[in-house]
Amino acid sequence: MKEPMTTDNSPCAHGSVWNSHAAQWARLGPPLRPSSEDISAYEDVVGRWAAAHGPPRIALLGVTPEIVEMHMPQDAHLVAFDINQAMLDVFPPALLRPGSEAIRADWRRLPIDGGSRDIVLGDGCFAMMGFPEGFRILARELRRVLAENGVCAFRFYLRPETAESIEALVADLRAGRIGSFHTFKFRAAMALQESAEKGIAVSRVFEWWSHSGIEPEELTAQYGWQPETIATINAYRERSDVYNFPTLGELRDALRELFVETDCRFPGYELGERCPLIELRPGGRAERRR
Ligand SMILES: C[S@@+](CC[C@H](N)C(=O)[O-])C[C@H]1O[C@@H](n2cnc3c(N)ncnc32)[C@H](O)[C@@H]1O
Repeated sequence: MKEPMTTDNSPCAHGSVWNSHAAQWARLGPPLRPSSEDISAYEDVVGRWAAAHGPPRIALLGVTPEIVEMHMPQDAHLVAFDINQAMLDVFPPALLRPGSEAIRADWRRLPIDGGSRDIVLGDGCFAMMGFPEGFRILARELRRVLAENGVCAFRFYLRPETAESIEALVADLRAGRIGSFHTFKFRAAMALQESAEKGIAVSRVFEWWSHSGIEPEELTAQYGWQPETIATINAYRERSDVYNFPTLGELRDALRELFVETDCRFPGYELGERCPLIELRPGGRAERRR
């Protein structure tokens, strides 16, 4: 099969951090993976739409297994899109949800008709798009495929309004104020990012980690963090993937042209204040100008 083209910092089929993540999914945890609280929030969005309109046509960006197998109304149809063959091979949606489909495609050019989806769901997708232009390109594509009465629900990864320094993060680590290695890794990526526009290359996070003087054995002895969990950071070595973490304000500025925000929920887990699930409906400035 011809590989979908990528034009910026999103992963191509080879050399992406997602090849490694596909192989070690069970060792990843929130905030990278959605929690049961996040899943209830996605279910609520789908349930409310279905109660008003009937069985929805759902597009999922990515193959997040927790979303594929979540509760959906009977007769809902799900099609998942991902650019990475390893993720499609390891998590074929039809295995978890018989009748669902998976298509290898770039989210910015979805191979489906305009207005053909009632609901679009995704978990952490925007972080890999480039900011702000990539966010706007994805928003335009979502707006294109979404029906007029449709709804999107995405969990975003956002940095705090006041950026945290890497020194403050290490101090928190040393003081036992961090609950999991996943949280630590995420905060490190956000702290090392100079600006949402520049983003942060995951290889840079690995580089910092390998020179930080923090010994994995120390973390295991002090906090009981499993060596295999700590080793998930090795997936960042020499990878070209770049994450972009805007603030909530920067995100809203990028999306308000095409969408109105109809809900914003912050989950209760550690770092949940940086991972809101936001519901978006067609509207916004461009719509009002029509
Ligand atoms: C959904 S996202 C974020 C991780 C998420 N929290 C999860 O649960 O999977 C991860 C997926 O995005 C895919 N991806 C990244 N950029 C893409 C793009 N431009 N088009 C299609 N898939 C993309 C990667 O291949 C990976 O499988």
